[in-house]
Formats: sequence, structure tokens, C-alpha cells
Amino acid sequence: MATHENCVSVVFDLGSQNTKAGFAGESFPRCMIPTTLGRFRRSGLSDGFPDVTLGEEAIKMRGVNHLDWPVDKGFIKDWDDVEKLWHHIFYRKLHVPPEEARVMYVIHPLTSKRDKEKITEIMFESFMVRNIYLGLSPALVLHASGRTSGVVWENGYSCSYVAPVFEGFPIKNATITSQINGKTLTECLQNLMNKVGYSFTTPTEIELLESIKAQLCYVAREYDEEVVSENNKIKFDLPDGQHVLIGEERFKCPELLFQPHLLKLQCPSIVDDICTSIKKCDLEYKSLFYNNIVLSGGSSLLKGLSDRLTIELNKQVKDLPDVETNVDAMSSRHLAAWAGGSILASMDSLNGFWMTKDEYEDDGADRVHCKFF
Ligand SMILES: Nc1ncnc2c1ncn2[C@@H]1O[C@H](COP(=O)(O)OP(=O)(O)OP(=O)(O)O)[C@@H](O)[C@H]1O
Ligand SMILES: [Mg+2]
Repeated sequence: MATHENCVSVVFDLGSQNTKAGFAGESFPRCMIPTTLGRFRRSGLSDGFPDVTLGEEAIKMRGVNHLDWPVDKGFIKDWDDVEKLWHHIFYRKLHVPPEEARVMYVIHPLTSKRDKEKITEIMFESFMVRNIYLGLSPALVLHASGRTSGVVWENGYSCSYVAPVFEGFPIKNATITSQINGKTLTECLQNLMNKVGYSFTTPTEIELLESIKAQLCYVAREYDEEVVSENNKIKFDLPDGQHVLIGEERFKCPELLFQPHLLKLQCPSIVDDICTSIKKCDLEYKSLFYNNIVLSGGSSLLKGLSDRLTIELNKQVKDLPDVETNVDAMSSRHLAAWAGGSILASMDSLNGFWMTKDEYEDDGADRVHCKFF
């Protein structure tokens, strides 16, 4: 655990589905909870229970709770709820008084100026943290992979983007967001399973679908060959003792990333997104960027993804002299942004770059734009 002048450095990555939080210098977050708050659906049921439950507690009480998810597509939708989550993490999960902490906060590459100010304001005003650092997710992911330049393809639950980063700075005008994310993939699997007679609709059933996707789905190396090959059905056991059989849905669902039109989605494939993003950058970095493509986020764990992506990107660059493709799929890529924040926040060389409480008090929250751009 990294400490600096008696203050402890903590790292927060609030995803739309999973919050990761922990101490700088450590390899894994100590706390991983669903980014949700539960409230009783009917008043009068709550005697003896807290009005609001957070994280896994909220999920456990899902039967009587209404769940709110305050983060979507990398942006904060409900500031009061997020403040409750931060409070829960500081006091109940990490057991750190915030006034003795400095916070490395992971943000989406396209976070608005207003949101950066608001995060800073709440951290300094309500939690009285000592210092804050707003770390752009793609730069942190690259850091976790041991690079400072490259292209990050991040795909979590509701966020999906391609961001080129040059010497630690994400290139904003070449950052491309996509509508295909973990949630769309699960919905796609839901439709495919529906067609073969299985209905998954309730939140618990959707959670089962997510497990099916994580355990059994894979990206085909050659889609057309996979479609005509013999695909034996695989059994997935359900908690009630029943089971479902899943066959070609296993690779048809992830094919959404490469051929969205097959599933009637009118948007570019991930290969198109990566190539378009690189094209928007200076020509002389083309080779550098194709050679350093880094995957991150929970959905990048899909089996076979990096092999297929390499095959498809190689097809795109085959006529370009001196351009080679290299896709880095780190084993803990679902935690890459958090891990990059953990490494960076523990480095002494970052010491002059945190925004301090004094700077906040002297210049206000808009100081954040000079510190982190
Ligand atoms: N092994 C796996 N294979 C495929 N998908 C997976 C796997 N493990 C997790 N996922 C998917 O990853 C998504 C969650 O990823 P992650 O924790 O990175 O999201 P998040 O950080 O909460 O959200 P976001 O960054 O999009 O706001 C879910 O859609 C989940 O189904
Ligand atoms: Mg995330």
C-alpha cells in the first residue's frame, strides 16, 4: 500500500456494472462491488433495515429492492448516489478516512469539463481528501501494459471505445465510441437463445446469461467455416437443477463485434473502429499504433477475441509497408484501468502532478483543466 506524507493513495474505477477500488501499489483492487444502490420498493417494509443498501448487499435484497445504477457509458448520472457509493467504499470497504487519503480517479476519455469539476468539488468539499488525480482510462490501461503509446480498445458493460494514446496523452479527436458493449452482447445472446426456445428475462436470468456468455461464448477464427462445421451442443446447468443447451449461439453472439450487420445492427465493426481511429492520427504513427493495440474491460475477456482481431487487422494492413499488427491481451485486462491507476499513483514522479486541496481552495474546481487535460 503506497503512502505519501502520512496519506494513503487510493484508486477508484467506477464502472457502470462493477466498481473497483483499492490501494495504489497493489496488483488487484481490494474492493469489487456492483455499482448499484438498492431501495425498498414499498415503504413500510423497511423497519430495521437501512433505507439504502449498496453494492452486493443491494443485489442480495433484489427481491424487495429497486436497484439504481448511477453510472452509464462512463458517465455519472446520479451524483448523490455516487457520493453514497464513494462514502461506502472509503468507510466500509477500504476503512480509510478520506481526509487522510489522496484519490486516483479513473475517468472516461470523453468526460466533460463539468463532470471533472464536479468530481473534484465533491471529493474536496464533502470528503476533504488531500489530493486528487483524474486519470484518463486509456492512458492508465497503456500504463498497465508497460507502454506510453498505443491504441486502447476498451469494452466493459456499457462503455466501448477506441482511443489512441501518444506518450501518455489520449488523442481526443481520434477517440471513437461504439454502441457494441457487454450489455449489447448479452442482449444479443438473449435474442439468439429466445429463437431456440429459451426465455431469459428477469435480472437473475440475465445474470445467468452473462455467466453463459463468459463461460461458453467464443469468437470464431473463421466465422464462415465455423457456421458450416459440426457444432455439438453444450449443456449449461442452471441453479434450479435444469439445464440449457447451447450450440452455434456460442460464436454467433460475439460475431456482433466483427459483423454487426449479421445481427441487424447498423454500426461499424471493431476492426473498422480501430482502423478509422488510427487513420485520424498523424500518418507517421500508423506503424506504432498498429503495433501496440491493447485490449481492456470485461468484454475483452471473450475467448478467441485477440486472435481473430489480429487476423482481421492483418488483412487491413497487408498492403501497408512496414506495418505489423500486435494485439496485447493482458491476463487481467478486465482490471487494466484500475491497475494502471494503481501503478501511476504509487510513483514518486507523479508527486508534483496531483491537484492539492490548497490549489482547489485557491483556484476552485476549474483548476482541474490545467492539471489534467
Ligand atoms: N469472460 C468474459 N467474457 C465475456 N464477457 C465478460 C467476461 N467477464 C465479464 N464479461 C462482461 O464484461 C462486462 C463487465 O465488464 P467491466 O467490469 O469492465 O464493466 P464496467 O467497468 O462495470 O463497465 P463500463 O466500464 O462499461 O462502465 C459485462 O458485460 C460482463 O458480461
Ligand atoms: Mg470500466
